[in-house]
Amino acid sequence: METFGKLPSGEEVKIFTLTNEAGMEARITTYGGIVVSLEVPDRQGRLGDVVLGFDTLDGYLKGHPYFGAIVGRYGNRIGGAQFTLDGVTYKLAANNGPNHLHGGIEGFDKKNWKVEAADGSSLTLGYVSPDGEEGYPGTLRTRVTYTVTPDNGLRIDYEATTDKPTVVNLTNHSYFNLKDAGATPILDHEIMINADRFTPVDETLIPTGELRPVEGTPFDFREPHKIGERIDADDEQIRFGGGYDHNFVLNRTGEGLELAARVYEPATGRVLEVLTTEPGVQFYTGNFLDGTLEGKGGIRYQKRAAFCLETQHFPDSPNKPQFPSVVLRPGETYRTTTVYRFSVKK
Ligand code: BGC
Repeated sequence: METFGKLPSGEEVKIFTLTNEAGMEARITTYGGIVVSLEVPDRQGRLGDVVLGFDTLDGYLKGHPYFGAIVGRYGNRIGGAQFTLDGVTYKLAANNGPNHLHGGIEGFDKKNWKVEAADGSSLTLGYVSPDGEEGYPGTLRTRVTYTVTPDNGLRIDYEATTDKPTVVNLTNHSYFNLKDAGATPILDHEIMINADRFTPVDETLIPTGELRPVEGTPFDFREPHKIGERIDADDEQIRFGGGYDHNFVLNRTGEGLELAARVYEPATGRVLEVLTTEPGVQFYTGNFLDGTLEGKGGIRYQKRAAFCLETQHFPDSPNKPQFPSVVLRPGETYRTTTVYRFSVKK
């Protein structure tokens, strides 16, 4: 554990280094629970960083699009920035056009989390979100555990309880580039997404409610395709997202950890597999990066310098009764797990 920096309030922000015997290394800060760096081997066994971010706390404090952060209370969008639960309407910040995005103005990505436990390979962070914070009902007691596993996985276990009925949808917003941590675009990475359907959106990126088959569309990644192959296709959904910025409905057989996606980077041989207990994953291709942010090692992050695979319940679920429920009630425990597992293909 080291000091990463200080908040304007004077509060200290810490950073932890988690490792395994195989040499994988994850650096995670208490600020936003952000994964600051993630070093994994390439096919020659050389370690390299595979996530975007900043060298210093200051970089994060200046503002950024959720690099590596824990996102909550509600990862992704809530349409019209409001929802009704048990007959009561809750108004949230409209911080993304007319919609609410990633928990609001000061979401979980901007909180300095408490350290609840730490050892060489794992870190448990806690945050208690007060009743009414960002407009959400209920005191939400949240706990997130990061573990670097012996088989080069970064496992993330999320847990939450509430004292009033509320909604919750936690995720991690790491931006991956398996080749060069964001120096060049991810268009040559090949991705498989284990989804027969996705949730098409309107022009403000709110799901229409339809679960549309991927068959015959640029969203069919059931067999691997280069990310760049159809990213500029003449397709309304691609236009709305400015590329991929969509939730996929994962093919699932049960409740446990199941494969959501697999990404292969041919130059380095690196492979990322995402396993999750969640029903969906947001595949976002860094369409809004525009070269203005200067990250680690002075790299300017250009459009599509990274991709995100945000495991989640579907966007706007609080307003879509037909989607899997995101309601958490007193006495229940919200629990989800996602693993980002790395390997190489020879
Ligand atoms: C959203 C994008 C957004 C990005 C950064 C993603 O989860 O789907 O639309 O630009 O996060 O905020």
